[in-house]
Amino acid sequence: MAENTLALLQHLSSSESPLPSLTTGYAKPTTVFFQIFGFFVIYSFKTAITLYLSLLGFALMFVRSTFAPPAPAVKHGRGFIADHAVGLLAVVGAVVGALISVNLMALFMDKVLNKPLSWFSIEFSCLGLYGPGALAGALLTQLFLPRVREQTVFSALLLLQAFLACLMQFLAVGSAAVFFLSGLPLLLASILNKVLSKPNQDISLWSYALGQFIPLTIGAQLTYVVLEVFVPLTGRMGDEAPAEHIIATIVGVTGSYAIPLAIPFIHRYSRGTLVRAIVLFSAMTAISMAVYSVREPFDTMHQKRLFVIHMENITSGEQHLHVGAADSAPGFDDLAHDIAAKFSVSGFELVPSVMSDWNADWDTIYPFSAFLSPYKLDLPLREEYFDATEHHFTVSAVNDTIDASAGTRSLTLKIGHPGIIWTAVAFDAHVLKWTLDNNPPDEYARHHIKEGSFYGHDTWTVDMLIKLPPGQSTGGLRIDFVGVHEKAMWPGKKAEKELGGRAMQLFEEFDTWLEQEKGGTIDATLLGCVGGVAWV
Ligand SMILES: *[C@@H]1O[C@H](CO)[C@@H](O)[C@H](O)[C@H]1NC(C)=O
Repeated sequence: MAENTLALLQHLSSSESPLPSLTTGYAKPTTVFFQIFGFFVIYSFKTAITLYLSLLGFALMFVRSTFAPPAPAVKHGRGFIADHAVGLLAVVGAVVGALISVNLMALFMDKVLNKPLSWFSIEFSCLGLYGPGALAGALLTQLFLPRVREQTVFSALLLLQAFLACLMQFLAVGSAAVFFLSGLPLLLASILNKVLSKPNQDISLWSYALGQFIPLTIGAQLTYVVLEVFVPLTGRMGDEAPAEHIIATIVGVTGSYAIPLAIPFIHRYSRGTLVRAIVLFSAMTAISMAVYSVREPFDTMHQKRLFVIHMENITSGEQHLHVGAADSAPGFDDLAHDIAAKFSVSGFELVPSVMSDWNADWDTIYPFSAFLSPYKLDLPLREEYFDATEHHFTVSAVNDTIDASAGTRSLTLKIGHPGIIWTAVAFDAHVLKWTLDNNPPDEYARHHIKEGSFYGHDTWTVDMLIKLPPGQSTGGLRIDFVGVHEKAMWPGKKAEKELGGRAMQLFEEFDTWLEQEKGGTIDATLLGCVGGVAWV
């Protein structure tokens, strides 16, 4: 990855770089490109619209010209339009039904059973949980429709896909291609069916095979890549993100795309068969929910992320242990209580801390800290903290001048941090100008400045012009600062742990305990941090 990044940077900074020509601003994309069966396909938006409109035109012509009114025995008295309107309702209703059904299931798994993330350790296992439910929901909606022929639903599906391809392409969304790619074989399948069977007969199974092949292939690939990205992400997107609903919706959407012909197919059969299919898939849904609810989300290869900070506060002289998780899996509260019982002072009452921009404890990993749901634990005070000399923090204002008539203050914030890396400062101010970029937000706001420098660089500065709060003429800016004690990172600095002091002793104990307690299903990042408050 580093090699690729370097090559990219070298290209972008070379004389062949396209960057200077991009100064005119963002240009809207004008090409459609994708890969299918190993072929890379690329064509312009113009070609795309021609292609998709032709598909829609041909489909309409074909469907209209081959429309046979229902045989007298199954007479509904519906003409072409009315008949296809019901077909369209069947297709759209199925997608809506699938989405409602999987989201109700997600709600139940998450809030009622309190078993979210049951599929986390095996990416595709969420298909087993939500697949049958999606089908049950899709089929259930068909019960509420008037009787409609298999042929009509098939044609309605073709028209809808062709229409969606055109609509999305008109909105300049290149991904419209997915509907073209699944619509085209449906047209071919309809033509094939015309050859193989008579009007008002069942649709030939060959047509199903031809029409289902491409959506199933693209749908499977789509499902694969989307789940491979999103399932691991749900372990990191925080407690508040609706992880269960995101995954359920992905299964509902990709499933609807991958097996669209399930809906015409079910209309091949009687209402009794439809009811039996619904009962079957509902039973499967209930069984899989029961099975998944006893699964553990994490295993040794797919661990829970745990963030642990040992904070030495050089202002208050206190030490705290902060623990945070970035997922909604059950059990974190219990874990935090176990940690408190084992490592905190006796009789300590554990309460969740509030995560906001003003919570400086986690500024080391700001802005990712927003995804955490942390606890703050008191630690017993130890004498040895106070004689740490090899690492220390200084925050000061130099070149400090106040322009009383303009109501502004200009200063250089100077941070000295020998032995401390990844420093971050946070403060509330109305910054008019600074050396970071040309446009600080034009309001009184919370600012976070983070520094990432090589070990051994001990100072950094930032020049700022800030507006003095009304009625204040002397400044007085509260700066919250934190950084990572370079010698106190576990397991990174395991080999020289004795240099990391008490934090490293605690981490070693903590890591061993966690490993025994949770059998290697938790991956903890343990950082020894130093922080405090300075007024400049
Ligand atoms: C350090 O202690 C001060 C005083 O109690 C507090 O205001 C500040 O938020 C603490 N900072 C950190 C990073 O713990």
